[in-house]
Amino acid sequence: YTAELDLSDIGKGTYPFYMLKEIDEQPTVMRKLSQVYADATGNVTVDSEITKSLIAADRLYIIAAGTSYNAGYASKFLLEELTEKPVELGIASEWGYNMPRLSEKPFFIFLSQSGETADSRQVLVKANELGIPSLTVTNVPGSTLSREANFTMLLHAGPEIAVASTKAYTAQIAALAFLAKAVGSEIKNGKAAKFDVVHELSIVAQSIEATLSEKALIESKVAGLLETTRNAFYIGRGQDYYVAMEASLKLKEISYIQCEGFAAGELKHGTIALIEENTPVLALISNNAKVSAHTRGNISEVVARGANVITIVEQDAAILGDDIIINNVHPYLSSISMVIPTQLIAYYASLHRGLDVDKPRNLAKSVTVE
Ligand code: G6P
Repeated sequence: YTAELDLSDIGKGTYPFYMLKEIDEQPTVMRKLSQVYADATGNVTVDSEITKSLIAADRLYIIAAGTSYNAGYASKFLLEELTEKPVELGIASEWGYNMPRLSEKPFFIFLSQSGETADSRQVLVKANELGIPSLTVTNVPGSTLSREANFTMLLHAGPEIAVASTKAYTAQIAALAFLAKAVGSEIKNGKAAKFDVVHELSIVAQSIEATLSEKALIESKVAGLLETTRNAFYIGRGQDYYVAMEASLKLKEISYIQCEGFAAGELKHGTIALIEENTPVLALISNNAKVSAHTRGNISEVVARGANVITIVEQDAAILGDDIIINNVHPYLSSISMVIPTQLIAYYASLHRGLDVDKPRNLAKSVTVE
């Protein structure tokens, strides 16, 4: 079913909204990226000019806006592990005017679905003036950021029409996984040797499909809870914190619920004052034994203050009573599988509030002013 979706088709077909179609296309996008960035035997085929330039750098800087910025965070750990370089994130609109002190040999990575975001372009213009090598990861061939950077990697996600970005976010993480693997193999990083990105992404695609087959359950869990609330929280640790940032942005964009994505352990240092009777708290727990018990502790803290908690948990970390269970994937890629239910949650919250899911107020698909 989902695997049959044609990424080049720009019609809505039988879908009520583009967003739902684009959510459903994600397993196809994952498989497509494996075709593009690996050969038939599974060897990664990222342009060697890109890996050479990146290997010559001492630090990677990811610059982006909105959902693409969140995708940068979701990819940070994987990039650091396999490339052995520190990765720093920059908000494009800040760096245009407040660029921090850079390392001696920086390499800039621009993440942009549209390739047209003016805030990001502003930084790229500066980077070019400074002679900093740059790579644009974008869904749109020939876009401004693609033309003006030294290198481009395409997302091959097919046109994304809903204003709220879904498949571009997961495609960005997957594309950067190929880049990380390519660099890691080149520098003979041991973790890269063990990370079979094609195989792991095929497991991710299956995990996404399993989540997509649970739409009715996900809708029933959130429909009542998010129909009338004015605010909500997503919490998580590590990779799940980064997913919480994107999950809350998605909910804000299309349901207009004020939502914060919070590092689960940081909530108690102030923000927990906002938890009252029935405040929705959505907790993300992927299978990371180091932190899952701590996140459970943070859940107890908000429950004690009356929060209405929904748990989204990876299978091996699940306990009796968890709400939404996600099939296990490689920890480097958990942001992809864990974000899927949160996209559906935003979708159903918007739908049940009677809003235009694809065209939220005040937002544009690509913002070409600074
Ligand atoms: C706009 C859109 C966001 C998007 C951001 C970055 O603000 O409304 O959904 O994440 O731009 O867009 P980009 O095309 O650069 O990824």
